[in-house]
Amino acid sequence: MKRILTGDRPTGPLHLGHYFGSLKNRVELQNKYETFIIVADWQVLYDHLEDEKGKAIERNIMEVVLDNLAVGLDPDKVTFFIQSEVPEICELTQIFQFLVTVARAKRNPTVKEEFLNIVSKNDLYDESEEEVKFIREWHLKFSDEDKEKVFNKGWDKMNLGFLCFPISQAADILFCKADLVPVGEDQMPHIEQTREIVRKFNRLFGDTFTEPEALVSKTPRLRGLDGQAKMSKSLGNVINLKATSGEVELAIKGAYSGENHALFEYGKLFGLNEKDFEVSGVVQMGKFKPALAEKINDFLEPIRKQRASFQKDPKFIRKLLDNGRAKAQKIAQETLKEVKQKMGMDYKFKF
Ligand code: TRP
Repeated sequence: MKRILTGDRPTGPLHLGHYFGSLKNRVELQNKYETFIIVADWQVLYDHLEDEKGKAIERNIMEVVLDNLAVGLDPDKVTFFIQSEVPEICELTQIFQFLVTVARAKRNPTVKEEFLNIVSKNDLYDESEEEVKFIREWHLKFSDEDKEKVFNKGWDKMNLGFLCFPISQAADILFCKADLVPVGEDQMPHIEQTREIVRKFNRLFGDTFTEPEALVSKTPRLRGLDGQAKMSKSLGNVINLKATSGEVELAIKGAYSGENHALFEYGKLFGLNEKDFEVSGVVQMGKFKPALAEKINDFLEPIRKQRASFQKDPKFIRKLLDNGRAKAQKIAQETLKEVKQKMGMDYKFKF
């Protein structure tokens, strides 16, 4: 059976953007592929190093696993595990880091975009307020070409873990030699980087890995409630899968409905045609919005119920993750052994 590996950063509950970007595909494919879901806790640290101190990550691991189960991933079929509980993935990351140049690591478009997000919000920067402000304003004021200069200035201040997170993501994918990676569109550059790592490793050390394929959903990017290009927790423009019906109503009521808003796209997704709400050629938002909220709530209701039933039993979740760790670790150990042998790093001292 071919394998899927995909996963999430445990930075908070998952939202509709995650659902349409990746979760829906996971659910549809779980019977056709042996499926692994990684909860990528190391990957949280690049922009949440200190404010987490363990507990928030732990809570968010729970949120992410519950959301995956709530949308219909079957705990009897799917292997869930926590990234940091399979240390072999770190070893593989360490090895892969030698296959990637600094320039290549910087050239990843999603890394660049995320970098700008971090620069404009984060206090990982030890620099003075003025320095951060300077970089931020450059980003807003200048052309793409000049942004390159911002990157160059900013990179010197960025933590190395951030630059390397796509390499660690390659190790997430390759430890189990996954064939397919269902992801949102923004993750494509990481899959491309993973494929490059495969080619380079195989060229240097002989056929070991196969290039994984990305699977991007039909709705690769869900726009935000504010009309921005992406639904994203850090932009605060999301509807969480665990949102109550009241929260959904409020979110839709308050959603941006000016030029180029995203509401009709949501309508199409949930089976509403805005044309049915037209009076003399103008869509009546006062009617459309509540109807949309109702459709979203109809969609979320079974997800909420499923979530609540799993939430009652945290011990079950720990057990699920223990079993997942055991299974993932066994595979990771085999892969690492093979990798070290191919590299000649299985020392036997037989000269
Ligand atoms: N970077 C992914 C995200 O932000 C999460 C992730 C970590 C992942 N490791 C992965 C996704 C491996 C697919 C495969 O959503």
